[in-house]
Order: sequence, then C-alpha cells, then structure tokens
Amino acid sequence: MTQKKDAAIYDDAAFFDNYIDLRKAANNYNDLIEQPIVFELLGDLYGKTVMDLGCGYGAMTTKIADSGAKSVLGIDISEKMIEKGIAENSRENVRYQVMPAEQILDVRQTFDLIVSCLAIHYIKDFENLFSNIFSLLNPGGSFVFSMEHPMYTASLYSQQWVTDPVTDKVIGFVTDHYGEEGMRHIRWLGKEVTKYHHKTDTVLNALIHAGFILEKIIEPSPSDALMKAVPKTVHELHRPAYLIVKSKKG
Ligand SMILES: C[S@@+](CC[C@H](N)C(=O)[O-])C[C@H]1O[C@@H](n2cnc3c(N)ncnc32)[C@H](O)[C@@H]1O
Repeated sequence: MTQKKDAAIYDDAAFFDNYIDLRKAANNYNDLIEQPIVFELLGDLYGKTVMDLGCGYGAMTTKIADSGAKSVLGIDISEKMIEKGIAENSRENVRYQVMPAEQILDVRQTFDLIVSCLAIHYIKDFENLFSNIFSLLNPGGSFVFSMEHPMYTASLYSQQWVTDPVTDKVIGFVTDHYGEEGMRHIRWLGKEVTKYHHKTDTVLNALIHAGFILEKIIEPSPSDALMKAVPKTVHELHRPAYLIVKSKKG
C-alpha cells in the first residue's frame, strides 16, 4: 500500500516527537491561524454527527466533541497519532479509528459534517476523495477542510523564504513549478516527507465535480493584531500558507 508507506512518516518516532513539539510550541500557526478559522466555519455543532478526517491526535476532534456534537469519528492513517488521541483526547462521544482516507467508504456510516485539517495534501487523487466524502454526507451536510496552500506546495525543491542577500530580510517565498502537479518530496522536521501538489483550480473543480456547492474560500492573511502580537507572522503576507474551504451537499 503506497499510501500507508508514504503517510507512515507520522509513525516514525523521531518525526512524530518533532511534530508534537511543533504543535505544542507557543505561537504555532495551527493554533494562531488555521484552527480558529476552520472552527468558525463549522457553525452550530449541536447534535451533529461528524467525521474528522486525518484527525491526528484529536485537537479539532475534541473541540467539536466539546461543542455539542452528538458523535465524532476521528480517522487517521497513523497508529501513533490514534494512540495519542485515545490516551489524551478521549470523550464519550468520540471514537478513533486507524484508516487511510482512501478507504473511508469502509466506515459504512453517514455524517452531517466532515472536517479535515491539514491532512489532504498527503492525498493524490482529489476526484476520488471528494466523491467519497460527498457520498458519506447526509443531504445538507458540510465538508470543511484546510490544506497546505497550492502556492506553498508547488516548489519541486523547497518550501522556503527568499531572503535579501545583503540584509537577510525575508522578501518573498519560493513558488516554482506551480503548473506541474503531483508528488513532492520535502525535507520537514528532519525527514523527507511525501506530499502532493494540486493547483487551486484542480482542488475547486474536484469539489464541483463531486457535486459540492462552494460556500466559502479563505486564504488567510495575518491580521494587524496578530502581526503586532507575533511579529514573525508578517512574513505570511508574502503567500497564504493555507487554503480553507467550506462546501455543502445541497
Ligand atoms: C499535519 S497532521 C494534522 C493532524 C490534525 N488534523 C490536526 O490538525 O491536528 C496531518 C495528519 O494527516 C494524517 N494523514 C496523512 N495521510 C493520510 C491518509 N492518507 N489518510 C488518513 N490520514 C492521513 C497524518 O497521519 C497526520 O495525522
């Protein structure tokens, strides 16, 4: 199973520890930027049946479970992530399951909401993924996701800032090979990580082909207040790190 092999990077002990350190660090961008926007898009969660796809150790899963959802199923390909979720983020209305996103039809259940935070850029085939997600949603159900932004995933060689050779100040971000979709091997947290670059039109068209109605598209920029509180976030003005979408099954 190629997907299992690629994504098993989160089951590598050193990579996993580095990822957890990054997520628990003060001023991490998940907590500052990405998760608050996704959570706000979820709307009223009371009584909803929810899937959190690529749930990791359950950060968003538990926020949803604690906000009135009837049940939340957290799915992730990584055994270590699910183990940590069960150990630290258990709730009566939460269930965790190790499963690749490519096999989600096996859950044999439908949902009012499917959410996915920063997981689907590990997946190659969005046409198939979105069509499966569509079929698992109840009528009127929502699919809300964040992913690494296509401007961020594009580069064949690096995901890094451009700096002024004299002042060493950040003056841009490397975006090359945007039009060449497919696999990327990126050095991150001390390991080579495999991701997939999808252009923005590919992402949105795959949603439309699956039958979704697009409700909101967000490319987050740091607010003035955030740039004042955490000055390094000013670099985020050079390109969006995330693409965040809310869509609906009509
Ligand atoms: C950056 S982490 C985000 C975790 C969590 N959603 C959060 O925001 O805290 C990406 C997660 O996607 C999971 N993942 C990667 N490829 C996957 C796949 N094919 N199927 C299911 N999960 C996958 C990883 O195991 C990892 O837990």
